[in-house]
Amino acid sequence: MSGELSPIDKAKFVAARRAADFVEDGMRVGLGTGSTAAWLVRCLGEMVREEGLRIKGVPTSTRTAELARDVGIDVISLDEAKWLDLTIDGADEFDGDLNLIKGGGGALLQEKIVATASDQMIVIADAGKEVETLGAFPLPIEVIPFGWQTTQALVEETLISMDVLGRSSTLRMNNDRPFMTDEGNHILDLHLKRIGNPRQLALVLNQMPGVVENGLFIDICDIVIVGFGDGRVELRDINKGTVEHDRLDFVETDNLFTDLGD
Ligand code: 5RP
Repeated sequence: MSGELSPIDKAKFVAARRAADFVEDGMRVGLGTGSTAAWLVRCLGEMVREEGLRIKGVPTSTRTAELARDVGIDVISLDEAKWLDLTIDGADEFDGDLNLIKGGGGALLQEKIVATASDQMIVIADAGKEVETLGAFPLPIEVIPFGWQTTQALVEETLISMDVLGRSSTLRMNNDRPFMTDEGNHILDLHLKRIGNPRQLALVLNQMPGVVENGLFIDICDIVIVGFGDGRVELRDINKGTVEHDRLDFVETDNLFTDLGD
């Protein structure tokens, strides 16, 4: 069955499979959003069903909550969990300091709240997500619908004094309507091309009225697990300063590889 997976899906799967090894019995685990995180949820579901793993999962979106329930994970809210042992999520870009751009799936607000409320955050990604400098991927920011065009104008004006290459922004759409986040907000995608000082930009953006949160995750991620299409994984731990290499076999089970849908 794995022959039907594209190399990029294999890469996402092996990263997710390796990350699942960090999940221990009794843990409260933040569950990310997106296609890579969906593999993780599938892997954890299989461990719950086949190995009797007992965990509580805190999803970062309604999509992930649905999938987690479908695969048999006990889902609770962040307020019920209060604090998490571990969050595992995907990313749109990561750099050498493990700073991230997230929010390609529109879930950056819950993702940042959940990751920040965790002892440890592990990012799982295919190798194409690594960049020297963040910013080629448009930076999502979540904005309140009220006065969003004024907020957009203010953001673009503020970008003039920031260390970025591009300054245009677009309202994210869902067909012919503005995309709505799980919190009922809109997303502006900032086409910055290159972000020279992500830490400063993150702080400045979050000071603007109308901006709820931005997709820059600075000093939040502890470990990145990079997957490759041939089964190799590379594990980088920013706190320990270590890089480990591993190789995973594709163990195919019907449940894991059928109709992922994300
Ligand atoms: C969702 C996210 C995702 O983690 C990010 O977009 C990566 O998604 P994928 O694993 O599908 O490439 O931040 O808001």
